[in-house]
Parts: sequence; C-alpha cells; structure tokens
Amino acid sequence: MRVTVPRSPGAVAGVVMAVFLALRIPGAHCRDSLKNFVYQFKGMCYFTNGTERVRLVARQIYNKEEILHFDSDLGKFVAVTELGRVCAETWNTQKDLLAEFRAYVETLCRHNYKETASFTVQRRVEPTVTISPASTEAPNHHNLLVCSVTNFYPRQVKVKWFRNQQEETARVGFTPLTQNGDWTYQIHMMLETIPQLGDVYVCRVDHPSLQSPITVEWRAQSESAQSKMRSGIGGFVLGLIFLGVGLFVHFWDKRVFVSLPFHSSDASRS
Ligand SMILES: *[C@@H]1O[C@H](CO)[C@@H](O)[C@H](O)[C@H]1NC(C)=O
Repeated sequence: MRVTVPRSPGAVAGVVMAVFLALRIPGAHCRDSLKNFVYQFKGMCYFTNGTERVRLVARQIYNKEEILHFDSDLGKFVAVTELGRVCAETWNTQKDLLAEFRAYVETLCRHNYKETASFTVQRRVEPTVTISPASTEAPNHHNLLVCSVTNFYPRQVKVKWFRNQQEETARVGFTPLTQNGDWTYQIHMMLETIPQLGDVYVCRVDHPSLQSPITVEWRAQSESAQSKMRSGIGGFVLGLIFLGVGLFVHFWDKRVFVSLPFHSSDASRS
C-alpha cells in the first residue's frame, strides 16, 4: 500500500491511498485478440480533510495505457481511450455493477482509511539533527556547514540557519528531500560561510512530530582551542590506557595468587 501526501502545500491536508483489496474487475471482454498483454488495475482513494471528502478512481490499464476508469464523483465508468469506450458504455448499463463500485467509496476507501490511519496518516517520527562542517579548517576560511535532518516522517519539514541569532537566507542550499524507503525522509541544508571566532551558528528544525522546534548549535573554535581540545582528548585516552594496563596487571597478580589453592585441591582429588 502506498500513501502519499499531495503536492499542493497550503491546501486542506489530503491523502491518496492505493486500494490494496482487490476490486472485482468487471469482465475482460474489452481486450483485443492479442495473445500477450498486460492488464492492470489501480484503485486510488483520494481523501481530503480526513474522510470528510473521498473520491475513488478505479483505473483499468491495458498494456500500460489507461483505457477507462470508474470515477466516484461522476458515479460511472469513463472511457479514456477508444479501446475502453465499448466497455465503459456496456458497464454503465449494468445497474448492479455501478452500485457495487459506488459502494466502494464507503466499504473500501473509508474502511481502509480507518483501519490504517493510525500508522500511516498519523505516523510521526521525530528528526535527528546534526551539524557538521564540510572541512575542519580554522576560522576566517570559507567553510560549508551542513545541517543534516534525518529519519523523520511525514515529509513536511522547516529547516533554518541562524548566525548570531540572525536568520541566514543567502548562501544557503538544500539537497532534495530524500525518501529512505523505510517510511522516513532526510534533507540536508548547507550554509556557505566564513566562521569568525565566537560566532554561534544554529540550525533550527520544525516538524509536525515536535512540540517545539529542535535547535542545534555550532561554534567556530580557534585553532589553539582546537589543539588544546585535541591534546586534552589525547591525554585522556593515554590516561585510560595506563589505567587499563594497571588494572590488568593488578588483577592478573591476584588471579595467580587466588587460583593456587584450587589447583592444589584439584590435584589432591585426582
Ligand atoms: C473538516 O472536517 C470537519 C468534520 O470532520 C469539519 O468540521 C471541518 O469544517 C472540515 N474542514 C474543512 C476545511 O473543510
């Protein structure tokens, strides 16, 4: 099943849901006599404002070409190509068939919406936000700051860059919104800048899953601060290694000492 949120932002939120229960395909007598063909059926339910307004378009496709469809707004079959004309005309005279397809708006579309909305339309996954400079160069050099917004759902998201609390609108760029294929999206917003010492950069993300926007900060650090940080981390790691070696030696000695009596008792038993 596929659910997509329509392209028109600002309009009343709508949803398209592919029907995943097989509809009855009314006869196949409109095919020509070719031996090899592909016949496809696509039932699409269009929802506007929840289930307030629902439209079913059930498309019949012959060799990848839509030949006719049922449109619930019109309540009848509509030919799309000449090949579908005879079928549409025939089916429109069959009262029981029309009644069946008109009922699908209720029995299929609204029914499926109610059954699946909790994990589709209402699905919310909070984004993860990280900032990374494209290069680790020192301040006063051109740099590209990348704000990565990952693993969120649905697709609507607002990302903004701020430099010292001023929004940056020039020298910014977006990667295309990427669908990860697991019902999550990601997008990356770049800011081209020359970081000055003490500058505070903030990436702010707003998303329907969030009560309040996520803000992540990045500060331009001086080279000496960076090297101090590096030597600090280096010293810490070195300390950890010494501690590890010390503990190992300590317990190794103990183990030899403690295990002696067991060895002797084992020996006496055998
Ligand atoms: C959406 O549907 C509700 C009832 O379900 C209705 O009260 C509301 O006016 C509708 N909103 C719009 C914008 O049509």
